Amino acid sequence: MEPFLELALELIEASRRHEEYRDIECINLIASEGLKSPAVREMLRLSMDLESRYAEGENDLEGHVKRRYYQGQRYITRIEDCVTDMMKSLYRCGWADVRPISGTHANLATFKGLSLVTKNRKMVVTPLSCGAHISHDYTGLAGMVLGLENINHAYNVDEMNIDPDRSAEIIRAAKPGIVTFGGSLFLFPHPVKELKEAADEVGAYVVYDAAHVFGLIAGGEFQDPLREGADFVTSSTHKTFPGPQGGVILAEPRDERMRRGIRGVQYAVFPLSTSNTHLGRLPALGITALEMKVFGRDLARQTVRNAQAAGQYLYENGLKVLGEAKGFTMSHQLAVDVREYGGGREIAEKLEAANIILNKNILPYDDQRNREDPSGIRIGFQDVTRRGFRRGDIEYLCDLMLDVIKGRRKPSEVREDVVAFKREFNKVEYGFKSLEEAIEYLDRSLKG
Ligand SMILES: Cc1ncc(COP(=O)(O)O)c(C=O)c1O
Repeated sequence: MEPFLELALELIEASRRHEEYRDIECINLIASEGLKSPAVREMLRLSMDLESRYAEGENDLEGHVKRRYYQGQRYITRIEDCVTDMMKSLYRCGWADVRPISGTHANLATFKGLSLVTKNRKMVVTPLSCGAHISHDYTGLAGMVLGLENINHAYNVDEMNIDPDRSAEIIRAAKPGIVTFGGSLFLFPHPVKELKEAADEVGAYVVYDAAHVFGLIAGGEFQDPLREGADFVTSSTHKTFPGPQGGVILAEPRDERMRRGIRGVQYAVFPLSTSNTHLGRLPALGITALEMKVFGRDLARQTVRNAQAAGQYLYENGLKVLGEAKGFTMSHQLAVDVREYGGGREIAEKLEAANIILNKNILPYDDQRNREDPSGIRIGFQDVTRRGFRRGDIEYLCDLMLDVIKGRRKPSEVREDVVAFKREFNKVEYGFKSLEEAIEYLDRSLKG
């Protein structure tokens, strides 16, 4: 057969196998991935025409469509405005931009827009090794694409958090245009309240990257950055907020300074960094927002409980789980130092062989040049929680992980138990089973 045709066949086969492998046969503990409900999946499938369309243009200061450059926008404009208003309502703010197509894009537009408005290229960030995302860093988007200069927050490894006193001094001395919070390894709420005054004194905008904890915030189980002093919140829409892959930015247009900032960010979204805004995800984003309004509190609470229960259990069984003095975590994640068992890479690979999927992670005290073999693993509990795991299930899962980590059983033996165990969790909880169920819920609620 012609190689091109063989490739096409292989592509279809690999795509089919992937769905079975990751959705049915593996247990997912990657902390940055979300699990969509059947209703959200159905909405995505229903949006296939939208997925082919364009809607370039400007928005107003409420986040609504102001001007579009294409014809055929009658429903697209309604869809964009509805989902924007649903996000504003869920997160209690007066402006949202749902056009960014990822969390990195939301950061790009926010950092670029605010650095233009402030005419200041300095940005105070959490060090990469202490949990910041690469897009905050001088080695990634912020430095290499936007040309921003990073100044690091002071970090307290014992607390696994930004040191507020020393960071206040850093902000006052550096006089940045932006101070960022939030991150990818994110166990405890960052000191936004504590550092707002220092940021205000030097005229810096406070940007909180909520990508990891966005669903927990919607459920009221993590700090609420907009209430604590963040000027802008950026996020992905597909981690603890279990929607379609995309990005969002939130803010409150409360005064002229904020409106200036918002206008700068909007300009950085369009025309600076988008043409197509991937419209097909927007209805599904709205349905996820509805689910978070209805089920978000219970989902977030159980997610954090499961993470804390796993932290306690792994710790009691001899693992070095970070953040012990503070109950291991207040988010959906754990960080575990597995150096004594071979390091993060080896353990992540052995767990993968047992169909338990998570990632290696650099820890704050690691040699920063050794990213390929860090001490840690990061474990996220948002996916298993949505599949219905409770404390007993979490402890059994921890036992399976301990078997692998401590070398008590071969990964291939453990894999059989993982596959059998996973079969018991073939539903998605804390969400609607179908779009029809969502509509029935809405009809009942609107009538009653
Ligand atoms: C804190 C943080 N911000 C931004 C991103 C990037 O989001 P996306 O993958 O949607 O571009 C991530 C990704 O995991 C993240 O952890």
